[in-house]
Amino acid sequence: MAWHFLGAQESLLAEGEVKAITVDDMPVALYRLADQYYATHNICTHQTALLSEGFIEDGSIECPLHQGRFDIRSGKALCAPLKENLRTFRVRTDADGVFVDVT
Ligand code: FES
Repeated sequence: MAWHFLGAQESLLAEGEVKAITVDDMPVALYRLADQYYATHNICTHQTALLSEGFIEDGSIECPLHQGRFDIRSGKALCAPLKENLRTFRVRTDADGVFVDVT
């Protein structure tokens, strides 16, 4: 387990936003939903597309290339053409800020 500090909760992301970050060479998509932070791998499991350039709707992220959707909290693939779930990473928040573990 290796927690990486990302920043203060208030300044990282606005509600309903996603952004790309890199942690230990891992491409990560960081999300803020209902005042909680979530993190997934940033590359779609179908082909090479950045999910951080996709669209958030009802707790899912829609891939910008072929519109496959993943549940942001679980990484579950929700529709075609996706066949593989998305890797998720643990996120911790406290008074010091937001931390992610990509191990
Ligand atoms: Fe994401 Fe095809 S690359 S759905």
